[in-house]
Amino acid sequence: MARFIVALLVFTGASVSAFAQSLPVPSYWLNQRGSELKVYPTTPPSPGSFDGVYLNHAAGFKCQASPTNPPYHVTGRIHGTHVTFKVIWNNGVEDCKSTTLWRGRVIGRTMTTHWILFGPAISPPLRGVDVFQQQP
Ligand code: BTN
Repeated sequence: MARFIVALLVFTGASVSAFAQSLPVPSYWLNQRGSELKVYPTTPPSPGSFDGVYLNHAAGFKCQASPTNPPYHVTGRIHGTHVTFKVIWNNGVEDCKSTTLWRGRVIGRTMTTHWILFGPAISPPLRGVDVFQQQP
């Protein structure tokens, strides 16, 4: 009986923990600037971590997505509703010598983030807000 109760508690705990992760992996997101974020599991899968790719379509920025410019790699962390992710803007074809960090929250199918874009030629760093909607 005691073993059954322990097993039940472990199972319930694992289920609650999995349910608490608000960012579905994999998932696909679009922000208000038209940029695309594709979220994938890490290899090997690691709870709380994700990989992905970013296609930048935001007007006024470099490293734009195009048929000849591959997507940029994304690394991120999710803890409950809190999410952080990063893009180093070098995909081996175009190097913009900059990095963006996003930090925010996932509520349902909306991810609201604040970002900072920095690099040796960006002084002071640029800051802004991106709101992503999960697709489709
Ligand atoms: C650069 O211009 O140095 C690299 C591209 C930066 C694109 C920024 S990151 C924050 C904002 N949100 C987007 O979707 N794109 C821009």
